[in-house]
Amino acid sequence: MDRASDRFALADGNFIPCLGFGTYLIDDPIVAYRSVADALELGYRHIDTAAIYRNEESVGKAVRDSGLSRSEIFVTSKVWASEHGYDRASRAIDASLKRLGLDYMDMCLVHWPANAKNYSDWQAVNADTWRALEQAKADGKVKTIGVSNFLVSHLVSLQDNCRIMPAVDQIEYHPGLLQPETVAFCKSNNILVEAWSPIGRARLLDDPTLNSIAHKHGKSVAQVCVKFALSQGVLPLPKSTHRARMAENADIFDFELDWSDIGDIEGMEEGKRYGSHPDEQNFCAE
Ligand SMILES: NC(=O)c1ccc[n+]([C@@H]2O[C@H](COP(=O)([O-])OP(=O)(O)OC[C@H]3O[C@@H](n4cnc5c(N)ncnc54)[C@H](OP(=O)(O)O)[C@@H]3O)[C@@H](O)[C@H]2O)c1
Repeated sequence: MDRASDRFALADGNFIPCLGFGTYLIDDPIVAYRSVADALELGYRHIDTAAIYRNEESVGKAVRDSGLSRSEIFVTSKVWASEHGYDRASRAIDASLKRLGLDYMDMCLVHWPANAKNYSDWQAVNADTWRALEQAKADGKVKTIGVSNFLVSHLVSLQDNCRIMPAVDQIEYHPGLLQPETVAFCKSNNILVEAWSPIGRARLLDDPTLNSIAHKHGKSVAQVCVKFALSQGVLPLPKSTHRARMAENADIFDFELDWSDIGDIEGMEEGKRYGSHPDEQNFCAE
């Protein structure tokens, strides 16, 4: 990959720009609009939003106003955890499209799996939600369908109950949390992994190992984190509301991490999550 617009091929035949712009916690409409507009100006071609981020209107408007053709920009949204089940998920997809003001979403994800903590029949609930995404794809409302925060157990259960396998699994992924089992399962089943919180919500910026790697390459820790994901074939989704940081996070195509850097980052693994564990979260409870 040489630039943010270079694309990974997906299992369904579609293509996805290799660097995404995250929009979590940008719910002020003016800031959300300006941030997405800045990101597009700086060369990002892939925007990650979700119904729960409450910024789909601003994201869609910034995409429409960008002057770029619709086909150049990849827009992802997600069905929130309160919308599990076929009917609710179908309505949630329509509502997202309406808020975005777009004819189609490039990708729609199931934001969190139904889990055993909240549903005795979590496998059936996930299969039912997934059917709504399959139908939205058949109807042309969504080009690619995928999941988020699905662990191997959730993916295996879905595999037994679906017509189309997810093309993408968006999971928490950063130095300290590389989720090797989920990543290996996805790779062997041609599911692209996306990294949320690729720079650990900025909590990794003082890490000594990452600082030493960054110093060696004349780069920042944030750049090392984004580059590390890409080096592993994982698609990073860094978020910033600061234009200079957006530019910094995308300026990662002029250096390579070497085997010792990769080894050092793998050595940081401690299963440390900054977000929720998919089997522990309570979002699905109504
Ligand atoms: N599927 C899911 O369940 C899920 C969950 C969480 C996130 N996501 C997606 O993944 C995206 C990224 O995750 P995230 O927002 O949690 O975390 P992140 O991108 O790892 O970190 C964002 C934080 O780092 C700061 N930052 C960004 N670039 C920086 C730089 N170069 N130098 C210093 N600080 C920098 C940002 O501050 P400023 O904004 O002030 O610059 C913000 O506080 C989200 O925005 C969202 O699209 C998905």
